[in-house]
Amino acid sequence: MTEAALKADSLVKQLHAAFCRDVDRQDLLRIAAKGITDAGPPYTSVYMYMLDRSGKNLVLEAFEGRETEHTVIPVGRGLCGRAVRLAQNLNIPDVAAEASYLACNLETKSELIVLIRRHDEILGQIDVDSDVPNGFTTVEESAVKEIADALAALL
Ligand code: SME
Repeated sequence: MTEAALKADSLVKQLHAAFCRDVDRQDLLRIAAKGITDAGPPYTSVYMYMLDRSGKNLVLEAFEGRETEHTVIPVGRGLCGRAVRLAQNLNIPDVAAEASYLACNLETKSELIVLIRRHDEILGQIDVDSDVPNGFTTVEESAVKEIADALAALL
């Protein structure tokens, strides 16, 4: 079976076009989340968590896919909070093997977290859940990073 790959370049163009039409921040985040999930497996659900003013909490500002109860995640908590604390992207092949994993459903098998950074500042993150075990390779990591870097310039 051939899976549709995420066309990061084309999604970045779409984000730039939306920015020029003056769409607001939440819409930019929504367009990014939808564009990623539209690519299909391994991208099951996409959550856009942004740091609040205090820099202590990640707040869910937009998502596409399954709903989550985790709308606010303190830095340091869960995999999302770990990525910010370590200032590092995370590619987790098996979420069940992670003691600190915050589950929002039983279908998710792997997770990719890519930080949205402007120079040294972390603005937030793109959190991708996958129903596919070990769903993400460096190809997906680079594609999602392209989207994160575009957002860092536009938000
Ligand atoms: N799994 C994340 C929480 C976010 S939900 O997956 C949308 C974590 O462990 O931080």
